Amino acid sequence: MPATESQPYVPTHPDTAHRIAALNRNDKPFHVVLAQQFDRPAVDQLCQLADMIRSIGGSRQGSQFLQTLLSHRRAMLYFIQPSTRTFLSFTAACQIVGMRYSSVRDRSTSSEVKGESEDDTVRTFSQYFDLIIMRHPLEGFAEHVANMLNEMPRTIPVLNAGSGKDQHPTQALLDIYTLYRSFADPRAPREEPRYTRNVFAGKTIAFVGDLKRGRTVRSLTYLLCRYPGVRLVFVSPPQLRIGDDILDYISRLGIEYEFSDDLRSSIGEYDAIYMTRLQDEHDVAGESKSIDYCAYSLSYEMAKDFKPGLAILHPLPRRNELDQRLDALPQAKYWAQVRNGMWMRSALMASVFNVDVAIRDHYHAYYTF
Ligand code: NCD
Repeated sequence: MPATESQPYVPTHPDTAHRIAALNRNDKPFHVVLAQQFDRPAVDQLCQLADMIRSIGGSRQGSQFLQTLLSHRRAMLYFIQPSTRTFLSFTAACQIVGMRYSSVRDRSTSSEVKGESEDDTVRTFSQYFDLIIMRHPLEGFAEHVANMLNEMPRTIPVLNAGSGKDQHPTQALLDIYTLYRSFADPRAPREEPRYTRNVFAGKTIAFVGDLKRGRTVRSLTYLLCRYPGVRLVFVSPPQLRIGDDILDYISRLGIEYEFSDDLRSSIGEYDAIYMTRLQDEHDVAGESKSIDYCAYSLSYEMAKDFKPGLAILHPLPRRNELDQRLDALPQAKYWAQVRNGMWMRSALMASVFNVDVAIRDHYHAYYTF
C-alpha cells in the first residue's frame, strides 16, 4: 500500500543498525539516507575532502582535473518538492566532478499520470542513470527506494536530499562543515589538521524555531552527537518541540541538552544559533496560525548581546525570523553555508563513487608545500 504523509513508509527493520547495514557498503555510506550513517571519522574526512575540492577547483587546471573524475557517470535529480539551494548545489556539484545530470521536478510530466507506480518510475531511473538524488514529501520514501534498488539487478546509490519532515542528511553535513570552519582557530598553522580536533567540545549550540517538523535540525542533531562535550539548547514554542526519537538518541549518547522557549534571555551564551522557518506546509488544519513566531526570530537589536565568535546558521529559505540587516555582520554564516553545500555535496559524490583517493593524491601532489 502506498504511504501517505501521515502514514510514512515503515522501515523493514525497525532497528537502526539493520537499516544502516542495508544502506552502507564496505562500512561506508553507499546510499545516503540517514544522518546516523556517518560516524565521526566519516564526517571529518568529508570536511577535509570538501576543503581539498575547494582548493583544487580554484584553478583552471585543477577544475579540469576534477571534471574528469566522474565524467563517465550520470545522475538523476528527482525533486518533487520545492527546492532552490539543494537542487542547485547538487547540479553545481555534479558540474564540479564532471557528472552529467537530468532532472524531474514535477510528476505531471512523468508516466505516473498514466497510472505508473512511483516505484516503477524510480526503477526506470536506475536503468538510465548511475545515481539518484531525490527530494520527496514522504518520510521514509528515500529509504524505501534504497532498499528497493538493493533488490534490482543493477543497484545504484540514492542520495536523500530531504525526506518529508524526517531527515536531510546532506544539509547536516554541510552544516557541520560550516560550523567547523566557523569555529576553527584562525591563528592555527595552515598545515594543522583542521577536522580532527573536536572544536565542538564546550560549545553551546541553539536550535531555534520549528524543531518538530524541521528535518535539517533533526539530521544535524544526529551528527552533532558525534562530538562529546557539545551542549544543545532547543528553543521552540512548546507545540513545536523536537521529537522524542531524537531526544532518546541524544540521551543515549550522553550529550547535554535543555529546552527553552525564550531566545532573547540567553542570547549571549550561544556559540552557534541555528535558525529555522515555520514549516507550515505540514499543517493539517492551520494549527500553527496561533503560534507567535516573533519570539523565535533573531532581530538586529539582539546583535549587541552576541558573542563575538558566534556563528549564525539558517538552512534557508528565511521569512521574517532572521533580520536581513544581520547579513552584514561577521557572525552571519548562512551565505557561506549556502556555498559550502556545493563543496560538501561534491565531496560526498566523490566519496560514494570512490574517487576521493584520487582527489587526496592530487591535492598532496600539487597543493601542499
Ligand atoms: C530546508 C529544507 O528543505 O528542509 N531547506 C534546504 O534544504 N536548504 C529548510 C526549509 O525548507 O525550511
